[in-house]
Amino acid sequence: MNAAIRAATLIGHAAGVEVFGVERGYRGLLEDAITPLPPGEVSGILREGGTILGSARCKEFHQREVRDQARKNLAARGIDGLIVIGGNGSLTGAMHLTAEEERGAQPLAVIGIPASIDNDLALTSMSIGVDTAMNTIVEACDKIADTATAHDRTFLIEVMGRDCGYLAMTSAIAAGADLALFPEAGRTDAAIVDSIVDAVLAARRRARRGRRVLVIKAEGVAIPMDRLKSMVDVRLREREPNADPAAIETRVTVLGHVVRGGRPSAFDRLLGSRLANVGIRALLAGETRKMAAWMPPVDVAAEVGVRSPADPYCWLTDLTAVLAETDRLLKGSSALARWRAAVFNDIDQAMTL
Ligand code: F6P
Repeated sequence: MNAAIRAATLIGHAAGVEVFGVERGYRGLLEDAITPLPPGEVSGILREGGTILGSARCKEFHQREVRDQARKNLAARGIDGLIVIGGNGSLTGAMHLTAEEERGAQPLAVIGIPASIDNDLALTSMSIGVDTAMNTIVEACDKIADTATAHDRTFLIEVMGRDCGYLAMTSAIAAGADLALFPEAGRTDAAIVDSIVDAVLAARRRARRGRRVLVIKAEGVAIPMDRLKSMVDVRLREREPNADPAAIETRVTVLGHVVRGGRPSAFDRLLGSRLANVGIRALLAGETRKMAAWMPPVDVAAEVGVRSPADPYCWLTDLTAVLAETDRLLKGSSALARWRAAVFNDIDQAMTL
């Protein structure tokens, strides 16, 4: 996100507008934590993870009076354009904040920049943070694989992603894992346990260095890791009664918030910079209630967006359409959701061979 803050600030200043930073997202807007952002403050932030402005959940923002206060704080400083960097909740807040029926005659435009490691925003193929998170998971899996290979062990690794299996599946492919468990598959706990046990037993028939098993589970798969471990261990003992229990017992690693931090990858720095470049230029050109999107599915995007003149790989997609399509993505009913589920399934079958 720092790459996006930096690019928007530098380009804004170059265009001759005054740029402010809002601390901790909507909470800062509400509490008037809004301060000038000079170019010098952002020049060195590109390689820092997270966001120099901070972030916070702000449930009160659902209330109209709270948004009125936020609009008042912006008006008091003469701020009439916002770049909102965030996921589904942040972009929904941006729509309410700039709705004509709420803001009346107050000039207030907004451009959204997609940022969420979960990659659960529709109409953009990537959001800021996904690539760094994926790299972190793959690096962790490579490290875990050393122990797993040396001891012929099975590791169950849980990764973040909220209700979306994208991170689990893509990082499983990139890490060469044996199995990915993702909520979109809709499997029962028993089927999940069986799929892991099948993978372990298949691996035990391989040559020595191929016996390790890595299973990547998305946090959106509801079964808790300790329960999954004990169910798998019990089932393994049933299916391999003659094996030394210690030799087939599984190990668990929950990567948790590790996945959300760290130095951003080169791709994420570039993505943040390019999306913010498109976003701030669109804002300055008078656009509003749009999201800067990275290579969205072209057929859908053509209906709800325009290619940005500032970058051939970016589109300005209508925010209402983004949020509606994101809702369908999360419910599993959009074309992308169906495609992901089908592809994940195909890959899943190939992985367990
Ligand atoms: O949406 C991003 C995300 O990191 C999810 O993957 C995860 O479920 C959630 O946020 C964690 O939120 P918190 O830091 O508030 O526990």
